[in-house]
This record gives sequence, structure tokens and C-alpha cells, in this order.
Amino acid sequence: MKRRRLLFLAVPLALLVFVIALIGIPGGGGSDGEPAQGPTEADLQAERERKLALKRTREDRAIQRVLRYTTFMRAGGGTKRQVALTFDDGPGPSTDEILDILRRTRTPATFFVTGVGIPDHGESLQRAAEEGHTIANHTQNHPDMGALDAAGQELEIATQEEAVESVGVDQHNLFRPPYRAFNQATFEVLAARNSLMVLWDVDTQDYASPDPNGMAQQVLSEAKPGSIILMHDGPGERSSTVQALPEMIRGLRRMNLQPVTIPQMLANDPPAPGERYPEGL
Ligand code: NI
Repeated sequence: MKRRRLLFLAVPLALLVFVIALIGIPGGGGSDGEPAQGPTEADLQAERERKLALKRTREDRAIQRVLRYTTFMRAGGGTKRQVALTFDDGPGPSTDEILDILRRTRTPATFFVTGVGIPDHGESLQRAAEEGHTIANHTQNHPDMGALDAAGQELEIATQEEAVESVGVDQHNLFRPPYRAFNQATFEVLAARNSLMVLWDVDTQDYASPDPNGMAQQVLSEAKPGSIILMHDGPGERSSTVQALPEMIRGLRRMNLQPVTIPQMLANDPPAPGERYPEGL
């Protein structure tokens, strides 16, 4: 009886000693008395880079998976309550204001960039990429691709790519044709580059500088799961867009429509197979 009671005491005591030993190891440090070291800044940086590389690989895979059955998308499949905000024709003078709103509201977006804006607004483009937005191709000079042959179109896409790379920004294999204009050669050029054409199903017509409140309301009345919303952050000032954006984002979230980037949409809610080519072909 007595022995059992001793055992009864000894077990928790042993556990206590064990726990103290465990806790004591980091506090006590090595024999040199140096305090225990957490991960260094370099370790944290390496970990961040590893995670980013993993995210990028997943996104690239999502694009390539969708390219196996279609050359273009105008919306996601509509199976998730997600929408994609997209901004064309930047970087421009309004890009930073738009990035401020996106950061404040923790809203990811996709930027279809023209190369001509990069010499003046390259830092805004770098910031967009650093803040986790997706960067994609919208040509160098914003031409009517439907009026160019394959070589001319390839040059427009490749020149933009070089301009984006020149400021150290990585972009995804996603392409949006200016004026929604393209021809059969466009698909050949994109196929050779493993690049997906991304159109839209909700047009804000923000290039016409509409009343911001009306613009937000129009988007909220048209947006549905899978919607891709077309806006502009360049080439000039986009004050209507800047003013409409907070209300639009609030409204989308109220409708339980979560903003995602195009690669996230491709991964979570890819377009339905068998969509016909967009009109114009
Ligand atoms: Ni455009």
C-alpha cells in the first residue's frame, strides 16, 4: 500500500523533473553561456522565398492544367463564391492609390500590364508584385492585335515581357488582348508561349469615367461566382476607379464574393470545358 503511494508520487515528480529539464535547455543555453538563438533574418527570408516559390509553382500548374482544354477564359467555373478584380493598361499615375486600397482591404488582384508605362511607373509595378498581386501581359504598346500578323503580335508580347523583367518583376503566363481584339494568329502565338487568354464577363467601362457610385452599383448587380471584373489603372489618371473601388470591394464581400487573383481562380474554380471561342473568330 505504501509502496503504491510512493509510486503515485514518484511518477508526477519524474515528469516534473523532465519538463524542467526540457524548459531549462533553451534558457540555460550552451556551456558558453550564449542565449538561445531563434531563426535568423536570413532563415526567415529563405522561408518566405521557399513559400513564394511553392505558391508560384502551384499557380503555374493551375494555368497549364486549364491550357490542356481551353485557350481562353472569360470567367471561372462559378463553383466557388470567388471573383477576380483585374486592372489593365497600367502601371500609371493611379496605380499606387489602387494598391493602397487593395492593401487596406487585403484584396488580391491581377494587373494586365502594358510595357510603355514601365519607364515612368516601374516602382508601382514592383510594388504590385511585392504585395502579392498577379502580373500579366497586355502587350508593349496596346495595339489592335487583330490587325497584326503572328510576328508582330509575338514582338508586342515579347517586348512587354522584357520591360517587366527589366524591373525585376515576374509575370504569369496570362495574356489579355487590348480592345479585346485578336485573330487566329493570337492563339498560335499564345500556344507557343503556354499562355492563357484572359477576358472578362463584367465590364465597368471605367475608361468612360463614370460616376463612381453608379460604377460600383453596376458591378455589384452583375457580379456572380466566377466573375472577372475589368477595370483600368492606367495609362492616365483613373479617379473614377479609385473612388469606386472601396465601395465595390465592400459590396462584393457583403455578397460573400471573395476576391482572388486569376491564378487562384484557375486553381480553385477553373473555367468549364467546352466554352466556345469568343466572338470575333
Ligand atoms: Ni487595355
